[in-house]
Amino acid sequence: MRRILGIESSCDETAVALYDARDGTLVHALHSQVAQHAEWGGVVPELAARDHVRRLTPLYRKVLADAGVGASDLDAVAWTRGPGLPGALMVGAAFGRSLAWALDVPSVGVHHMEGHLLAPMLEPDPPEPPFVALLVSGGHTLLVGVEAFARYHVLGETLDDAAGEAFDKTARLLGLPYPGGPVLAQLAETGDETRVRLPRPMTDRPGLDFSFSGLKTAVLHAHHRLADEAGLDAETVAATSARDLPFGPDLAASFQAAVAETLAIKAQRALAATGYRTLVVSGGVGANRRLREELGARGRADGFRVSYPRLAFCTDNAAMIAYAGYRRMQAGQRDDTDFSVRARWPLAELPGA
Ligand code: KG4
Ligand code: ZN
Repeated sequence: MRRILGIESSCDETAVALYDARDGTLVHALHSQVAQHAEWGGVVPELAARDHVRRLTPLYRKVLADAGVGASDLDAVAWTRGPGLPGALMVGAAFGRSLAWALDVPSVGVHHMEGHLLAPMLEPDPPEPPFVALLVSGGHTLLVGVEAFARYHVLGETLDDAAGEAFDKTARLLGLPYPGGPVLAQLAETGDETRVRLPRPMTDRPGLDFSFSGLKTAVLHAHHRLADEAGLDAETVAATSARDLPFGPDLAASFQAAVAETLAIKAQRALAATGYRTLVVSGGVGANRRLREELGARGRADGFRVSYPRLAFCTDNAAMIAYAGYRRMQAGQRDDTDFSVRARWPLAELPGA
């Protein structure tokens, strides 16, 4: 098995990639639906599914053309089975399964978070298990002990909002446009993160779980207080984007620092608990500069290595799906006749290898 096509359609990015067992990722292509969902202030599941239908075939053709290969050169198809939006997942499932059937090659449905977890393996000098993975995306916040490929132990997870969701919800609260996370992070760049002291939730007790929903409320209270101190009335503040408020950047920076430190404290504890010396960070929030800075400083002080995928593979992409599919197939796993997607799919339910 040499060339594996990867298909990702779990949320608001349509992506196709080609992984070569000998040469690595050959081509990856992505269409982001951000512009389409922006006017609704968040992802609209039905629009996402319809756009995947429109985009998949052209992206597939482009990937083959850019790689200079024909459909008959494909040896397998990997598609995202879950977790994600059911309608969006169904589009990728139908495309991937039909293509594999037409080409008479095997296919495998991939766990999206296993894709994120394995994404750093696509880089030069890839991390070797055992390691701890900090997976921080829009839907998940997980600390996973990775003993070996397919031997995963969930060490901690969020009890409410995911880290990316906390970024997105706080951004919305601050009147920032969708997609909130990167916009908030950008605003934070010019702010003073020591201006507002926000909690580092659940770091004052043992355990590796997270809780981010209280942080939103803390930001809301700080927002009101700062507005009051600036002599702005509630109505004006509610109608103004944090970008245009004098304290906006400081509040964004204070929030970002609280999330980054909380994630880093728990990740460091997970390393101590397992005795592993490598931390793998992946998922959209893994692109955050402040988080990387925090983890880098702790890694230097404590002697652990931090490994990331390139920025384009931190967020959703199909290269990670093609690669995870390749690893699963190498372990002998294939789709059976069951075509179902898994909107919810705990990592712990994945088979071992
Ligand atoms: O992994 P991903 O692309 O999609 C999911 O599987 O969810 O992660 C998307 C999440 C969103 O919540 C987005 O706001 C957040 O990652 N994100 C960021 C940054 N870039 C993306 N959050 C903070 N700072 C960033 N630079
Ligand atoms: Zn993702």
